[in-house]
Amino acid sequence: MDTIYEGEQIPAIRDVSLRIASDEFVCIVGPNGAGKTTLLETINGLLTATRGVVRVLGHRVDRKGPWLRAKIGYTPQNFSVDPDTPFLVKQVLVMGRYGRVGMFRGLTSGDMSSIERAIEMMGIEDLLDRPVGKLSGGQLQKVLLARAIAKEPDLLLLDECFNSLDPQSKAKVLDILQTLNHELGLPIIVVTHGYFAVLDVCDRVIGLRDGRIVADISHPTDKEKEVLRQGNLIP
Ligand SMILES: Nc1ncnc2c1ncn2[C@@H]1O[C@H](COP(=O)(O)OP(=O)(O)OP(=O)(O)O)[C@@H](O)[C@H]1O
Ligand SMILES: [Mg+2]
Repeated sequence: MDTIYEGEQIPAIRDVSLRIASDEFVCIVGPNGAGKTTLLETINGLLTATRGVVRVLGHRVDRKGPWLRAKIGYTPQNFSVDPDTPFLVKQVLVMGRYGRVGMFRGLTSGDMSSIERAIEMMGIEDLLDRPVGKLSGGQLQKVLLARAIAKEPDLLLLDECFNSLDPQSKAKVLDILQTLNHELGLPIIVVTHGYFAVLDVCDRVIGLRDGRIVADISHPTDKEKEVLRQGNLIP
């Protein structure tokens, strides 16, 4: 498939043909502008493929976008919040859960315990009563991750979710992702260009350059990981 941004001539991603297994942990790497964000947004239907068909969880994204997005946990790369937004962290987490169950039914004790588990996993208990617009970059990233996890998604799409995290938090988040993938069989697609510890735990690395897939490596060897760490995509 291809995706062309409105008003552009050249596709931001092109000739992308990809099948991801329902329990796979995939890492997407590639230089700035390679199309990583475009690919994630095409998968969750925020962008529409201009050629080809995208199926997620067995359904066409162009036909069932909102229904699918309710089942996808997504953390965007650049998420800015108005510093004066009135919402507290705990409210943002609840909204994430409504994203899954719909606005028209009240949250059950099961919903609340999903939210509580995610809070505990991410260790953000002390942030719950803070306005979301006044968090640091790393704190906001943790809240977004907790919100995506509390949604109990069927697919997790994480765009540069390690970027603003400190080294300990990076390792902790990676450990959480690994647990979710192993214990629940949750498929995860994570974009990263700086945190290569992901290479040690993921099932598969996909390299993008100029909108094309230029590498697709299952369980990279140490030598392949070294090449990827140096920013080269083709071992
Ligand atoms: N809204 C937009 N309109 C037009 N072109 C865009 C838009 N967003 C991105 N692009 C272009 O699409 C290409 C892919 O961008 P994308 O954001 O997917 O790259 P990326 O791999 O995520 O980069 P980064 O590592 O910087 O996050 C780039 O050439 C970019 O300039
Ligand atoms: Mg990006």
